[in-house]
Amino acid sequence: MTGALWRMTSLRVALVLTHQQLQRVDRLVSVADNGNPIQNIFLAELDAARNASGLWSPLFLFCDTDIWAHPSSIAFARSTLVEALRGKAYPAGRVIMGKHHDLLPSEGMLGFLQSQWDGIQDPLNLETAWLAIGHVDEFVQLLPKNNSLGFTIGDADNKSALEVLRKAEKGGRGSTRARSNDPPPSDQTGGFGGLGQDDSTTIHLEETSLAESEIVRVPTLFNATTPSGNGSDAYTAGGTGFGLDWGEDGTPSRFGPVIPGISLTGAFYPAAINDIVLGQSDIGARAFGLVTNSTVIIIQEAVEDGYCNAGIKGYFVNDYYSHHTGGGEVHCGTSTLRDMSARWWAKL
Ligand SMILES: *[C@@H]1O[C@H](CO)[C@@H](O)[C@H](O)[C@H]1NC(C)=O
Ligand SMILES: *[C@@H]1O[C@H](CO)[C@@H](O)[C@H](O)[C@H]1NC(C)=O
Ligand SMILES: *[C@@H]1O[C@H](CO)[C@@H](O)[C@H](O)[C@H]1NC(C)=O
Ligand SMILES: *[C@@H]1O[C@H](CO)[C@@H](O)[C@H](O)[C@H]1NC(C)=O
Ligand SMILES: *[C@@H]1O[C@H](CO)[C@@H](O)[C@H](O)[C@H]1NC(C)=O
Ligand SMILES: *[C@@H]1O[C@H](CO)[C@@H](O)[C@H](O)[C@H]1NC(C)=O
Repeated sequence: MTGALWRMTSLRVALVLTHQQLQRVDRLVSVADNGNPIQNIFLAELDAARNASGLWSPLFLFCDTDIWAHPSSIAFARSTLVEALRGKAYPAGRVIMGKHHDLLPSEGMLGFLQSQWDGIQDPLNLETAWLAIGHVDEFVQLLPKNNSLGFTIGDADNKSALEVLRKAEKGGRGSTRARSNDPPPSDQTGGFGGLGQDDSTTIHLEETSLAESEIVRVPTLFNATTPSGNGSDAYTAGGTGFGLDWGEDGTPSRFGPVIPGISLTGAFYPAAINDIVLGQSDIGARAFGLVTNSTVIIIQEAVEDGYCNAGIKGYFVNDYYSHHTGGGEVHCGTSTLRDMSARWWAKL
């Protein structure tokens, strides 16, 4: 062999990092309406909220029939919606995922995230088995805050939501329609739950140095999607039952076996906790609570106060028929492209 050249070079593994909420947003992402008038309403309001929040770059719209922009944009499996939690040992942010009792997210995904650079974004798995859809972004969010961590936790809170309803009832509004979306579905009362919420807050508090008082309580109610049962109808209000089977691509089913006697839950009012955070602004679902007079909308007002007290300016969009009735809200229907240039490794 003549003339062969040899050169030594060192190779490095490039990490696959997820975005975290504190990164600056470059583009807000959603899915084009493709002639669907309901998605069109959502997009028009989303775009107005984007503009009002001061994000000047135009919406980036995928052309797809799947309106659930969040999972596809970051190439994570549907069951593993992620948010990054920046704890003291996680300068690149930390992934939060849902687990269903003993069932963890798929081994491939979990193992991948755990093995990267000795768990640089080591996932925290919160219990989501009490939810029909079962994603962590249905009850938790991370919000910027001027504290030592730079963030606090937004937590879905049934207590404050029930409080405003009870107050309205005492104020003589007991027979007012609970939801004010148009056209109104039948009134719903009773059966509100929230199993598992407190557990996740406790885990959060253990995993961060946040004080309980720093948690932002976002008034949210969950109701049973269907009576307890078995089979596909046990999972979703519409009985579509998607996700019970193994995917054609070999991905496991979204759900584990139903526990007899347990009803899975979903947000009763469009839930602003499932929002998209853009710096000190936040775009979430308009709750369509009961209207007490033309100026006050119960639930919506409480949600706005919650964010406002945390120094976050909330913008609200109508996602009632585009996303809410399908089991998701703004966070599920959008995504973000964020600035990842910060030298997080310098903090290691
Ligand atoms: C966008 O926001 C600016 C500044 O708040 C406002 O002047 C303008 O009218 C808004 N544009 C649209 C299309 O809403
Ligand atoms: C954040 O808090 C620090 C110390 O409490 C204070 O000096 C600083 O002005 C605050 N920054 C903002 C943007 O409020
Ligand atoms: C509110 O949620 C807690 C769990 O966080 C649950 O224990 C409680 O039963 C819920 N309240 C109602 C009225 O459903
Ligand atoms: C919960 O709310 C959904 C959506 O409004 C409704 O279809 C369902 O019947 C409610 N479930 C119960 C048990 O009231
Ligand atoms: C639900 O279906 C599973 C699997 O077919 C079965 O093992 C279980 O006993 C059923 N549970 C109920 C409450 O019918
Ligand atoms: C609407 O109701 C709120 C709270 O009950 C009250 O403070 C406000 O004055 C009312 N506004 C009008 C126009 O009646």
